[in-house]
Amino acid sequence: MEKGFTVFPLDMDGLVDVAVVGCGYWGPNLIRNLVESKTCRKIICCDNNNEQLSKVSKRYPNLFYTTDFEEILADGSINAVLIATPVATHFGLAKKALQAGKHTFVEKPFTTSVEEGVELMELANSLGLTLMVGHTFEYSPPVLKIKELISAQELGTVYYISSTRVNLGLHQRDVSVIWDLAPHDLSMLLFWLEETPTRVFAMGKAFVQKGIPDVGFISLEFPGGVIAHVQVSWLSPSKLRRTTIVGSGKMLMYDDTEHIEKVKIFDKGVDFKEPQSFGEFQLSYRSGDIVSPKLDSYEPLRAEVDHFLACVLTGESPRTDAKSGLRVVSVLEAVERSIRNGSSVECVAHDVIA
Ligand SMILES: NC(=O)c1ccc[n+]([C@@H]2O[C@H](COP(=O)([O-])OP(=O)(O)OC[C@H]3O[C@@H](n4cnc5c(N)ncnc54)[C@H](O)[C@@H]3O)[C@@H](O)[C@H]2O)c1
Repeated sequence: MEKGFTVFPLDMDGLVDVAVVGCGYWGPNLIRNLVESKTCRKIICCDNNNEQLSKVSKRYPNLFYTTDFEEILADGSINAVLIATPVATHFGLAKKALQAGKHTFVEKPFTTSVEEGVELMELANSLGLTLMVGHTFEYSPPVLKIKELISAQELGTVYYISSTRVNLGLHQRDVSVIWDLAPHDLSMLLFWLEETPTRVFAMGKAFVQKGIPDVGFISLEFPGGVIAHVQVSWLSPSKLRRTTIVGSGKMLMYDDTEHIEKVKIFDKGVDFKEPQSFGEFQLSYRSGDIVSPKLDSYEPLRAEVDHFLACVLTGESPRTDAKSGLRVVSVLEAVERSIRNGSSVECVAHDVIA
């Protein structure tokens, strides 16, 4: 497993009692990984929709089930709560979980506003509890490899990053495609560049459901000079998960739909030669080897869940902590303002996330 973050500490035999709230599309993936992690003694699954619970209970008959979130709060044996419900409910559920003394994991996007996120972060800090956000891609082998390559200057100076995350559906009823899909790309960009953009502008349109944009084009500028573009859509003929990173030395393509060779590094570029005489203008294009680095092979969600449990057991701060969740939400808020104001250039609120 990739180094750089703590997974289950080998020198501890501690076990955690956990609850997963929200057993719709994503919650069962958390449950599967918690079951497989063998770090949990007791797992309670909670959903206010009985049908969802009965589907999960058929698959995992030995877990505990409830439709009542208050039961979890009142259960003193539960150390940690993982929230995989729609984003509008994240703040209310996480606040109650923290107030009940539970370490808390919240799926992406962290909250619907920076204000809510700050309140949760301050609450967790004041109570000494772990608060982690589900930025799953930051635990994924190709994303970690890219981070390593950028940090080692393997691509030279990064010029720009362009990302496409499109497919047909699944249309959400409560959030736009920007709040649904863009958190993945934004968390990766912020992780790779170790910066939050200063300015963004965006265009988004609702074609299928009135008032809920299903296509979004987001442009970002980072303090170090990198520019980036993120395209998200639920309205596209085929599934694309592709990121291109262009640097002064090399270029990289990351295709998450590939089974092997997800990352390819192209020794391609263009060099500008200083003119020796007036009127001389020379560019030389390079085209060398294409290399696909070896990647570790494990499920990112498993690494993420193990890291959360390890943080609960050790008190270590999660890599994707509340601040990292807040950075993404602050960009999403700026993107939304831009769309509302006819693609205005918006600043990202840096004061709350410094
Ligand atoms: N990390 C990832 O890669 C990833 C992938 C998909 C979804 N997600 C995130 O997971 C969360 C859930 O998404 P989903 O697609 O599973 O949604 P979903 O609508 O399929 O499931 C949500 C479930 O939560 C339940 N629920 C709602 N309010 C509740 C409450 N107060 N108490 C108990 N149960 C409640 C609903 O009945 C439903 O079963 C979202 O935040 C989403 O962005 C993350």
